[in-house]
Amino acid sequence: MADIPQDLLGQIKYLEDLFTVPASKLKEITDHFVKELAKGLSVEGGSIPMNVTWVMGYPTGEEQGTFIALDMGGTNLRVCEIVLPEEKGEFEIIQSKYRMPEELKTGKSEELWEYIADCVQQFIDYHHEDGKLGTVPMGFTFSYPCTQDYVDHGVLQRWTKGFDISGVEGEDVVPLFEAALKKRGLPIHLTALINDTTGTLIASNYTDQSTRIGAIFGTGCNAAYMENVGSCPKIAHLNLPPETPIAINCEYGAFDNEHIVLPLTKYDKIIDADSPRPGQQAFEKMISGLYLGEIFRLVLLDLHQGNACTIFEGQSMTKLSKPYSLDASFLSLIEEDPFENLSETHDLLKQQLGLDAKKPELELVRRLAELIGTRAARLSACGIAAIAKKKDLQAPCHVGADGSVFNKYPHFKARGAQALRDIFDWPASTIQQRGKEDPIDIRAAEDGSGVGAALIAALTIKRVKEGNLIGIKHADKIKKSCLS
Ligand code: BGC
Repeated sequence: MADIPQDLLGQIKYLEDLFTVPASKLKEITDHFVKELAKGLSVEGGSIPMNVTWVMGYPTGEEQGTFIALDMGGTNLRVCEIVLPEEKGEFEIIQSKYRMPEELKTGKSEELWEYIADCVQQFIDYHHEDGKLGTVPMGFTFSYPCTQDYVDHGVLQRWTKGFDISGVEGEDVVPLFEAALKKRGLPIHLTALINDTTGTLIASNYTDQSTRIGAIFGTGCNAAYMENVGSCPKIAHLNLPPETPIAINCEYGAFDNEHIVLPLTKYDKIIDADSPRPGQQAFEKMISGLYLGEIFRLVLLDLHQGNACTIFEGQSMTKLSKPYSLDASFLSLIEEDPFENLSETHDLLKQQLGLDAKKPELELVRRLAELIGTRAARLSACGIAAIAKKKDLQAPCHVGADGSVFNKYPHFKARGAQALRDIFDWPASTIQQRGKEDPIDIRAAEDGSGVGAALIAALTIKRVKEGNLIGIKHADKIKKSCLS
């Protein structure tokens, strides 16, 4: 960085101070996080919802049958047909993806359900032309915070990830969607409404029993784990045996909505204020894929407009001025630029933003991407560490992780792993003894929203068969349509 002018060097230093999260801060965040997880399970509740899912235990590997899994994440819609065969831990899957039209995300409730049901219909028509499909159980992955009194029920608490569809918050989404399915006469019974994290936990545990946490690092962020009923005072009134396992969808994107411990910058505050739900998802807004490009954009614009340095002087900022015009893949490309002269970054800025950046400016841009990406990975690790601490999870503890940021963002995994080492102070010897696997190891998950959804539908049907009907609203319908 020898040839960088003083003013830009000063700004790089300023950004480093702003975005670097030292080990001591990670530890402080994690400790606060552990308390907040417990608070979410208490009767009074806290800002982390800690939603009870009514998924009561891990799969055995013996689950069988044919299922439809529907995945409504943030970016795409996916319909899958999944067969769980006799062989333990195996599955077969066929699937189709559909684009989630941008206008739907801020449209009306009915349009959403009609569109999704149309996609399911297209899928069934295409794969079952002969019309010979009997009633199939469906696991619906609806990856937004829902209050679930039953596994086949879920009242949307609030939209996240930039969605803002009127008429859904505060409603049970199951009958809303079922009505659209019914209208089309589709042979499907919505057996389980699940979150992507719970699906990930269950699917990953199906193939690797050391999996204790399912996590998503994608457009949004969140994790699920298996709790015991005795640690959930908010369902104590149900008088279930305290050792009963129950999966909790933490919804920890809402961690620190009160802004007590997270190192918020002025850019994070702008993102929050300008979002459809200010005051919500504080943690998610600092670390998830939807926001990384926006943080980056806001910083560059601020540096250009401020007096502390000269950057992109005399160039048009029209493109950079458009909110949410950059996504996390823009930062990924910058971080992946292999060339010393950052020529790929130069071309990217030129093509997408119409900016002709000089070498020192490119250096700042690259460092900024690294800082934002590293902060996201390090803060992400705090959520995982908090669950591990709360549950005193011991090695080998695998975390099944999915999502675009985890799968595609360069160095995210290594940075997250380093953050866990910083939080837990694992001695090098512990890691060497374990053949280089960390005591808590975050690794690529099985397909949670597909296989996980099918497994949870199967587990629900199994409970109906056994007469264990806790947390199942329409056991009668399941009996009639899926067990006859
Ligand atoms: C949602 C969660 C989801 C996460 C990852 C968040 O915005 O509230 O339900 O698990 O994104 O998709």
